[in-house]
Amino acid sequence: MARVIVIDLSRHNTVYVGHDRYFVLHAGGPPLLVRDHCPHRGGPLSLARPTPDGRRLSCPWHGTKVGVSAVRRGCLPMVRSGDEAVVLLPDGTEPVSVLRKEVLANLPAETGPAC
Ligand code: FES
Repeated sequence: MARVIVIDLSRHNTVYVGHDRYFVLHAGGPPLLVRDHCPHRGGPLSLARPTPDGRRLSCPWHGTKVGVSAVRRGCLPMVRSGDEAVVLLPDGTEPVSVLRKEVLANLPAETGPAC
């Protein structure tokens, strides 16, 4: 049976589901609860900067550009109403913890090289 948790988005932006960390990504449209894991070597996508077109995230570890659409495919189902979000967790989910807000995510878009 699926498990549901409620997050106060005014206070939290990070959830641990078992050993996996998820963070709230604002990438246009409704916020997404996405896994904080770069497909290259597991870098923290929560520290990534969006590319100028907003379609990809630039991983801070080795610079891989990860498509927001690919990240979106791995997100946890979340329905938001105001500051409250209801999240549907996968079956058999192990311990869950919710961390306070502004841990990492959503740095401003990357800019061109410094002159
Ligand atoms: S871990 Fe993200 S680019 Fe290497």
